[in-house]
Amino acid sequence: MALYSEKVMDHFRNPRNVGVIEDADGVGEVGNAKCGDIMKMYLKIDDGIISDVKFETFGCGSAIASSSMATELIKGQPVSEAMKLTNKAVAEALDGLPDYKMHCSVLAEEAIRSALADYEQKKGQSDSAAKD
Ligand code: FES
Repeated sequence: MALYSEKVMDHFRNPRNVGVIEDADGVGEVGNAKCGDIMKMYLKIDDGIISDVKFETFGCGSAIASSSMATELIKGQPVSEAMKLTNKAVAEALDGLPDYKMHCSVLAEEAIRSALADYEQKKGQSDSAAKD
């Protein structure tokens, strides 16, 4: 059996949503200290819906495929749904990852959570500024 599924290879070779959103509503950056890979997610959120998402990943092929698939899974989704995205769901959508590569999908889950936390924090600040 091939080590990587066709979906992993496809998202590694043709990653979706690569890039930067300059005026992002939420940005999250995470890294894995062991392998040194870094993932950065940018979210554009309109009326609680993720209208756009882009990523930059300096890492292995599985990390690139995981970020690409994760962006596809949350694009167009409400923030509440994106919060629930797990690394398992990302790996399943890729038709699986080898056990020792599961941490690459964890990076994608963490990057999205971190970008959403950044969004919530910024939103909280502007909401309280609006009340002043
Ligand atoms: Fe660390 Fe893939 S080897 S993210």
